Amino acid sequence: MRRVTAFLTLSFALLIAACGGSGSSGASSGGGPGDATAGRTFFASSVCPTCHVITGVPSAVGQVGPKLDGIGTTAATRKPGMSAEAYIRESIENPQALISPGFSAPSPMPPNQATGRDLDNLVAYLVSLK
Ligand code: HEC
Repeated sequence: MRRVTAFLTLSFALLIAACGGSGSSGASSGGGPGDATAGRTFFASSVCPTCHVITGVPSAVGQVGPKLDGIGTTAATRKPGMSAEAYIRESIENPQALISPGFSAPSPMPPNQATGRDLDNLVAYLVSLK
């Protein structure tokens, strides 16, 4: 009888471990890498496309800002020592931090149009545009 109890206890423990383990909750912010697919959806339905072209995103036809095609590559060259991910994140949080070549200050781009998990996802999407 003892053995059965021990077995059941162990099974129960394993079950809890399996359920509670490494599941990532989509709603939480700031944790882990973003989801590029969700980022694309967010981008398409946000204010961004009114100012930026991304080829393949039908709504993204705005020409106020630079084309974002290839931004995952370009962004890594903007500031020495700054990764593409960090530059894109900074551009969204604080557009005045670095004015893209060919544009003049102040930037008309509104700051903080994405926050929390939306920002993580948006950054992951833009970084993926190589
Ligand atoms: C009102 C127009 C406008 C909106 C809306 C806008 N942007 Fe911009 N964006 C600009 C302009 C103009 C620049 C270039 C000047 C600068 O560096 O801020 C720019 C620059 C950028 C850059 C840097 C590009 C580079 O090559 O250095 C990124 C990345 C960017 N925007 C992403 C976004 C995202 C993502 C959104 C939506 C959350 C967005 N923008 C919304 C106008 C806009």
